[in-house]
This record gives sequence, C-alpha cells and structure tokens, in this order.
Amino acid sequence: MAKVLMASNSKTDLWNIVSIALLIAAGAWAQSVTQRPDEVVYKLAQDASFDCQFIHTPDQQVAKNPILYWHQITSRESKTEMTRLWPDPELMYKDRVEVLDSDRNSPNRSVLLKNVQWEDSCGKYECKLSYWAAGQAKRTKGSGVKLLIHDSMFFGLDPENNTKLMCAVNVSRDDRFVLSLKQDGYKVFQKNTDPLYPNMPLSITLSVILPLEKGMNYECQIHLGSTMIMRQPFQQPFEMAVEKVLPQPVFLFVAILLVPITVLLALLTALLVLCRSDRRQ
Ligand SMILES: *[C@@H]1O[C@H](CO)[C@@H](O)[C@H](O)[C@H]1NC(C)=O
Ligand SMILES: *[C@@H]1O[C@H](CO)[C@@H](O)[C@H](O)[C@H]1NC(C)=O
Repeated sequence: MAKVLMASNSKTDLWNIVSIALLIAAGAWAQSVTQRPDEVVYKLAQDASFDCQFIHTPDQQVAKNPILYWHQITSRESKTEMTRLWPDPELMYKDRVEVLDSDRNSPNRSVLLKNVQWEDSCGKYECKLSYWAAGQAKRTKGSGVKLLIHDSMFFGLDPENNTKLMCAVNVSRDDRFVLSLKQDGYKVFQKNTDPLYPNMPLSITLSVILPLEKGMNYECQIHLGSTMIMRQPFQQPFEMAVEKVLPQPVFLFVAILLVPITVLLALLTALLVLCRSDRRQ
C-alpha cells in the first residue's frame, strides 16, 4: 500500500518537473496555450467553464493584444466541422458564451458556456490565439477540452411495478460511464455503456431494475471511469406506512378519553341541577 502511494507520489513529482521544464522550454522560443483539464463533466442545464491559459515569458512579449477564438471541433463521417463559440458565436452558442476575464492582456482566456445541452457534448472545445510577436503574426492553440454531460438520477420504486427498485440516469455518449447499485454496502449490479456506434443518440440511458428487499439499504452511483460523479441513497418506504397507521390509534385514544369526560360533564350537570333545586327549597 505504502509502496504504491510512494510510487504515485514520485510519478506526480516527475510529472511536475517535466511540465515545468516543458513550460520553460516552450517559453524560450514560443508562447503557448494550455487547456487543462482536458475534459470536464457537468450536469445538463448547468454552466460549464472551459479553462485556457496563454503563457508567455517577459522576454517573449506579445506586441499586440492576442485575439481569442473558441471553436467546437466535431468530426462527422470523417469530415471535421468547426463551430464558432467566440467571438461572433454561431446560432447554437448565441448569448451563451462569456469570457471570464475581460482584461485582454490577462493570461486567463477561460470561457463560460451557459445552460449545457446534449448537443454541446460532441467533439472538443479548442482555445486558439492570434497575436503579434516580434513584428510577426502568430497563431497558437491548446489541445482542446471535451465536455461530458449527465442528467439528474431517478432512484426509486419502479413506476410500473412498485415491488421493484429502479435507478436510471441519462448520460452523454461516452463508454466510460458506469451505473452501479450497492445493497448494504456491497455492489450487486453494474451497468456499463453499450459499445458506441456512429449516429447513436446524443444521450444514453443507463438503467437497472431489481427486486426490493425489506430492511436493506440501497445506493445508486454513477462513475466516469474510476471517478464518482453522483450517488444517491434509497430510503425504504416502510416508515411512511407506520405514519399512515398513526391516525387510527390517535382517533381511538381520543374516543377513550371522551368517555370519562362525558361522564364527568353529566355528573357536573346533575350536581348543578341538584344545587339549584336545593337553594329554591
Ligand atoms: C480565470 O478567471 C475566472 C474569472 O475571474 C476565474 O473564475 C478562473 O478561476 C480563472 N482561471 C484560472 C485558471 O485562473
Ligand atoms: C432519459 O431521456 C429520455 C428521453 O429523453 C426520457 O424519456 C427519460 O425520462 C430520461 N430519463 C431520466 C432518468 O432522466
């Protein structure tokens, strides 16, 4: 266990050194655009942010402000298509894209894409910069970021058979999405995405139906590869049944209480009547 940890630590150290060295090397002769992470996961209708950093060293000053372009790159039937997000967004991105840092000289070139839809989940988003350096027009771009989308999870009694438990979620096309179901902490079911094929719908439904056992705890989870995206527990409905039974004993209790009260009232009335007739005499 410790060995594995150490190995992964030295691996990240090495990666850091390599990336710093690469950055220095890159700065020595060119400005660079980095897009990290290379994929992001958002819930349907959320706002997604795509990170982009424009890195250049002081001795490699940019003579004029860089101009930022964001594109969506998709390949359909071995044809590459480009849809512009910013500036002058094409119809599907109209009024949905915001540049996060308004300072044109800032290295931060990130954008926000509002209200993500399934259509936004194909292809990659590329950050590209045009600028002047040492009197020459230059252009550089990042390696792109992929957008993955999931919807909210349905986890409850199967609407068609309420002795069964159902978990369902819609996800964008990616075969690393996995739905799993845990019963009392043990994984009892796993549903992987079917193999992807051309022209399949943009959203895929992952679902499972299994018999509900009394007294068991359930949890439905969605993973992307080994990363947990979402989890939801299921509460057994028997507590609701107990609550439904409650009105009856309460009613009975009130009825039982009413008997002595009525008797007491009758006695009091009788006593009053007696007292009055006593006084008259
Ligand atoms: C870029 O700027 C936005 C808005 O100020 C900020 O939310 C985001 O964290 C910045 N990104 C980085 C990597 O600094
Ligand atoms: C998944 O998408 C289908 C088709 O749009 C829809 O009918 C269904 O209700 C969705 N399921 C969930 C769990 O959101």
